[in-house]
Amino acid sequence: MNLPAYYPNSAKVNAKNHLEIGDYDLVELADRFGSPLYVLDEKTIRDTAREYKQALDEFYPNNLPIFASKALALKAVFAILQEEGFGLDVVSAGELFTAESINFPADKIYLHGNNKSIDELERAVNYAGTKVIIDNFHDIKLLGQLNKPIDCLLRLTPGIECHTHDYIKTGQIDSKFGFDLEHLIEAIERIKETNNINLIGLHAHIGSQIFEVNPYEDVARILLENFVKLNEKYNLKFQELNIGGGIGINYTTADDPPNIREVMQVLSHKVKSLINEFKLETPKLIVEPGRSIVGRAGVTVYEIGSSKIVPKGRHYIAVNGGMADNPRPITYQAKYSACVANKANLANNQVYTIAGRYCESGDILIKDIELPADLEPKDLIVLFGTGAYNYSMSSNYNRVPKPAMVLVQNGEAEIILQRESLEDLIKNDTLPSRLIK
Ligand SMILES: Cc1ncc(COP(=O)(O)O)c(C=O)c1O
Repeated sequence: MNLPAYYPNSAKVNAKNHLEIGDYDLVELADRFGSPLYVLDEKTIRDTAREYKQALDEFYPNNLPIFASKALALKAVFAILQEEGFGLDVVSAGELFTAESINFPADKIYLHGNNKSIDELERAVNYAGTKVIIDNFHDIKLLGQLNKPIDCLLRLTPGIECHTHDYIKTGQIDSKFGFDLEHLIEAIERIKETNNINLIGLHAHIGSQIFEVNPYEDVARILLENFVKLNEKYNLKFQELNIGGGIGINYTTADDPPNIREVMQVLSHKVKSLINEFKLETPKLIVEPGRSIVGRAGVTVYEIGSSKIVPKGRHYIAVNGGMADNPRPITYQAKYSACVANKANLANNQVYTIAGRYCESGDILIKDIELPADLEPKDLIVLFGTGAYNYSMSSNYNRVPKPAMVLVQNGEAEIILQRESLEDLIKNDTLPSRLIK
């Protein structure tokens, strides 16, 4: 059976007509680990990471792909990506601490953020080798106060705005991140006033779920033009060019993401030709993908409970999760696809709306999706493409414990994130002494 592009790479339908991922039957997986359950396909992560790394090694050997850990910051994911030759982009002490806890090599870690605290910056400086992406004047001031040597890149807002299917170049982008080009010189002057910041490159990230390659070529040009400008004015010889992340994935059949190898090829050629044109030394090319590495690797398995048919209206089926484990639909109307794990062979001929269990009318995971007829309690709904920005954006809304996550591969399943317990939910609560009975 030909499965749609939003399925994980190892997905197949088995002889019992159940969906399998990593050669593990999802019905058995939900029996063993409970639901809701985040399931992560190791094969998809490794395949995708290799697509990036092999293309870069072939077309631009001086490279470092770094995983944008905000997409899914877990030890197991970091460890897999370390094996695949990736570095990490972290944005908080928590993400950095997770990396430190598995001895992730510091010289492949980059700390981002538009409001880093002095403690976060100090943590980066002390995990020696970690680099900081300077986002604003406050970063420069705090790093200067730390007075310890640190290699940094400067984040620019290059005036390119991406909307999934098209992009515009604007004179001045309205963004909370990075320096606009008008403040670049002032930023360099401030950096020169410190004696501990060693500026080694420039960075830009233009958006997420991007389906085109041209914006990346434009970013490369703008950043390299500024390499030239800063070299001429300050004799700065930058060694690193970071063009950010953002390559899109399939959430539904309407999405048409580009081929990763092709994007890396086009980008590499562009950077090489600009380097020749501008007579620059070859900088290390850094890309920062998040969603495209883990997004399609993840699915969430839910169990159907109640249902409701509105007279002449919708047929709601409610699942045992929703906006707290996947806030993307309620936050920005993100679209998803689904199937029924235990009825994977049946035709989709009835329209349902998949509702979450949380106390918000807007907690709807998918509106109007065709699934097999006569779905009933305990049927297992699988939502695809939930590996990125689901667990990492999850909450305990309604005081519901967060789901577990299992990593599957070659018929083996291992917990990489424990299911929260009710005790976990109250472990940080304290009663004021006068209320203790
Ligand atoms: C600076 C930066 N780099 C990389 C990423 C990763 O983007 P994506 O997950 O779309 O690849 C983000 C995401 O917002 C980001 O802000």
